[in-house]
Formats: sequence, C-alpha cells, structure tokens
Amino acid sequence: MPNIAFISPKGGAGKTTAALALALGLADQGARVALIDSDPNKPLVRWASLPGRPQAISVHAAPTVQDIRDAAQEARRREPDWIIVDTEGSVRGAMVFAALRFDLVVTPLTGSQMDAIEAIKASELVASFGKRAGNNLLHRCLLSRVPAALKPRSLGAVVAQLREREIEILPAALIEKEAFRALFEVGGGLDALEAHGVGGVAAARRNIQAYVAAVQDLVAPPEALRRAC
Ligand SMILES: Nc1ncnc2c1ncn2[C@@H]1O[C@H](COP(=O)(O)OP(=O)(O)OP(=O)(O)O)[C@@H](O)[C@H]1O
Ligand SMILES: [Mg+2]
Repeated sequence: MPNIAFISPKGGAGKTTAALALALGLADQGARVALIDSDPNKPLVRWASLPGRPQAISVHAAPTVQDIRDAAQEARRREPDWIIVDTEGSVRGAMVFAALRFDLVVTPLTGSQMDAIEAIKASELVASFGKRAGNNLLHRCLLSRVPAALKPRSLGAVVAQLREREIEILPAALIEKEAFRALFEVGGGLDALEAHGVGGVAAARRNIQAYVAAVQDLVAPPEALRRAC
C-alpha cells in the first residue's frame, strides 16, 4: 500500500488539488484511496462534506502532524490501496515524515521563482530527513497550474534551476484548468463537474490520467507482482 505525502513550505502551491486529483484518478481505476487531511483549514474534509464523494475515497482529518498516525490507523481499517496525505503549506506541515513512512513525497510548484525557492527547500528537508533516518525518501516536484497552451519563459527558468540541483520533476504536470478549482465548489469527481456544466472536464480527465500514470511508475508495484499478491 503506497503512502504518498504532498508537502511545500509555502502555501498555495497546489498540494490539496494535486492530492485530490491523484485520489480521483486512482479511484477511477478501481483503487480504494484514503486521504488524510492534515491541514488545519481542512479543505479535503470540506470537499468530502459536499455531495458526490466517490465511495472508494475516504477522508480522515489529522489537524496536527501528531494526529497523522491515528488518522492512518483509522484509514487502514478500510483497507485502502493507497494512503495520500495532504499537509499545511508551512515548514511545520512539511515535517510529516516524522509521522509515517512514505514511499513518495511530492512538492507541487507553479512556474514562479518564489515557488522554485520553496521547492528547493522542500527537497532539502526531505533529503536531510532521509539521511537522519537512514533511508532515502523518494521526492519529486510536480509542476502545477501550468498553462495548457503557451509555456511561459519563467517556467523554463524554474525547471532549469531544479535540474541544476538534480531535483527531479514528475514527467507529467497539472495544467491550469477551471475544472480543478470547481472540484472544491461542486464536490465529487469529474463526472459531477460535467453534470454541472463545468468546461474542460475531458482535458482535466486526460491530464489526471497522465499524472496518475507518472506516480504509478514510481511507486505502484508492477502488475505481475500485484497479481501474485
Ligand atoms: N491545476 C489547477 N488549475 C486551476 N487552479 C488550480 C490548480 N491547482 C490549484 N489551483 C488553485 O490554486 C489555489 C491553490 O491551490 P491549492 O489549494 O491546491 O494549494 P495548496 O498548496 O494546497 O495551498 P495551501 O498551502 O494553502 O494548503 C486554489 O485556489 C486552487 O483552486
Ligand atoms: Mg492545501
């Protein structure tokens, strides 16, 4: 059962959206997903309180990092295939590794210089924690809110800075789409957005599929192993 955390020392980088998009994409493939909401503002708990939450997704509140272990225990009772933890956008929120063992830590960032600095900081936090704990934590940056059409010059500069430091970036980015914002207003998944007349749902769905595949390439057990289990 892969455990994945979304962290960034800076707020508003796209953690909650990326966590929910991953959960929805996995649930679409038939997986059971437990989302742990470790942001005191509880955006995922709020999303779950809206109509239409897919049955395969459960949401568990963990108001502080200390509560994550209890929330994970509660989540495991539902026998999820994946546990995904969304955290508060702060250094304190990013210290989630103290609570659980993670297979992958993801730091979303938009193509801004400020986000790049914070993503570098996140990568250093993960590396230093891994060194102290004696296990290398897998970390990837995720480009988020990328314009679907023309890629801005600043995005190229941000990517270059990360590459220079050998900080790895997931091969699929999340594009800027109204549908991703609307999820938190309408509730449920992409089907619910379609029913509400939100535009661009098909493109958002394809985007989520590519993003889920990139995550699965890193952490999901190979198909043969899965069948043998
Ligand atoms: N791919 C996207 N397309 C359009 N809007 C997006 C996308 N990703 C995020 N947003 C919007 O950007 C804002 C910040 O995103 P989000 O809440 O996911 O970031 P966060 O890192 O979880 O923030 P915080 O640190 O405050 O928890 C929100 O208004 C969200 O709706
Ligand atoms: Mg958030």
